[in-house]
Order: sequence, then C-alpha cells, then structure tokens
Amino acid sequence: MTPVQTPSIFAPVSTPAFAIRELSFFVLGLTAVIFVIVAGFAIYTLIRFGRRPANPDLEPAQVYGSKQIELAWTVVPFLIVVVLFLVTARYVWGIERRAQPPDALEITLVGNQWWWEVRYPKLGIVTANEIHVPVSDASTPALTFITLQSVDVAHSFWVPQLAGKMDVIPNKTNRVWIEPRRVGTYVGQCAEYCGLQHALMLLVVVVHPKDEFQAWVAAQQTPPAEQGTVTAGRQLFSSLACINCHTVRGTRSNGVFGPDLTHLMSRSTLGAGAARNTPENLRAWVKDPGAFKTGALMPAMKLDDTQLDQLVAYLVTLR
Ligand code: CUA
Repeated sequence: MTPVQTPSIFAPVSTPAFAIRELSFFVLGLTAVIFVIVAGFAIYTLIRFGRRPANPDLEPAQVYGSKQIELAWTVVPFLIVVVLFLVTARYVWGIERRAQPPDALEITLVGNQWWWEVRYPKLGIVTANEIHVPVSDASTPALTFITLQSVDVAHSFWVPQLAGKMDVIPNKTNRVWIEPRRVGTYVGQCAEYCGLQHALMLLVVVVHPKDEFQAWVAAQQTPPAEQGTVTAGRQLFSSLACINCHTVRGTRSNGVFGPDLTHLMSRSTLGAGAARNTPENLRAWVKDPGAFKTGALMPAMKLDDTQLDQLVAYLVTLR
C-alpha cells in the first residue's frame, strides 16, 4: 500500500479540494488582516495607556450617538460578511453545478453504524470502507461521482484532500464528486457524530493508475476461487448466522446488514479502521468484535477454538 497522506485541506490532490484551498486562503487572508488591525490596536492601547496613574478626576471624553462611528462599525463588517458570503457562494456553486459526464465512474456510498458500504452499481462490485478510483490526467480526465446515502443515522463524508464535507443522511441522497490527479492513498473520517463508534468510521480512498484500477475492478468482479482445503470452515460459515448479515457472492450467503465479504482479504482494515486486516486480528474479531469496537452490531458468535480456526482458514481465502 502506498504511504497514507496526512489528511489536510492544504494538501489537495483533487479538483474540488483545490478550489476549497483557494477559498480557504482568501478567507484566512481577510481574517488575518482584521486580526492584525484589531490586535495591533489592542496592543498599542495597552502599551500607550496601560501605565498611566489612575486619576479619578480625569475622565476620558464621553462620546454619545456618533453617527459616523456607528455607521463605520456597522457598514464595514457588513460589507466584509457580504464579500465572504458571495465568494463562498461562488465556489460552492462552481463545485455543485458540475454535471456528471457520461463516462464518469459512479459509486454509491452507504453510511451504516459504523462502517461504509461501497457500491459500484455499473460494475457490479460491492465492498466496504475502501473506495478505489482511477487517477485523472489532462489527456483522459477521470471523474468519480459519489452518491451518498445512509441506512439509519446521519454521518458525514469527508476526505479533506479530495473534496469538501458532505452530510450522509437517511432518506436524502447527496452527491460529491472527486477528480484526483495524483496516485496515492488518502484517508478521511466520518465527520458527524453518529453514535458510539463515530470515531471508528475510517474512509480510505485509493487512487490507482488507470490500468491498475482496471485490474482491481477485474479482481473484484471475479468470485474468489473455492478451495478444497477449507471445506470445514466454509460449511461452518454457511451453517451459522453469518450468512444472514454477510454476502459472499457465489454462495448462499446473501445477507446485507454487514459488509460484503466476497473479497474480504483485499481490504486493509477490519471494522472500518478498528484493526489491521491480518488473520490474527480477524480471528480475534470473529471471537468478539466488541473487543476492537465497543458497540459493534456484529455479535460474538461464541465459537470454540477449533471452530474459530476453521472459520478464519476459510475467510482468509476470500481474496
Ligand atoms: Cu458515522 Cu460519525
């Protein structure tokens, strides 16, 4: 995996994020000027008048009802706010009105407590917590349009280097688009408090070179090969309640409450960033998900050691 970038709005790699950085510099610049003026006056006043001996007979000039002063401190801030509003509205409009080109990649991201389902409706791919997209370059722009939906509570999609923040709300479909121009792995977090595990809703966006992305698509579309050596684990899996919540394509496991496991081992983390996806962690996760993620909706299945070994031996074949 390529090294993960620190998520920062000041290190954009995608078209909307570049626009947001421009706007941020403008707002920060304007407010910095105001800060310098106000702080400058305050410091000047402290130094100039701070050490004068108190004299109760010497009262400063009392100013009442000065139209000029009141107009100045009303009109000037009002104009500043109008400028900030108009500039922001222009940037928001510029990003929002972008029409979806016919060749754009379509993704539907569904917020769940507490993980993300990632669907590629036109490609027939369903995965979780990791979004894979192609890189965009001048000769062949590659835009990705992400439809945001939520199952039950409000979340917020935010990958600072790629796009602005967007709410993920039940019964309302929102949309963001990204156009990443640099290959890499970019992270984000659910940015709206959504319950016990709000802090463990990691978002990973992997931006691939175009041919590498096609290879990823092909791998995801192929059901994992059935391996004869893990029959016990496979039978155990399909005899347990696992199949009511999880899908493994090509088997009778077709639940939709939990993440699709068809290519479980292609993902880098378990439980939306709760732990690295290693066989040891996977075993501990199946034994008791609550140990990694308090309040995880997946129950501990009360399996003995042999069953755990068989199950994990099967799960690690889902590549
Ligand atoms: Cu999902 Cu906070």
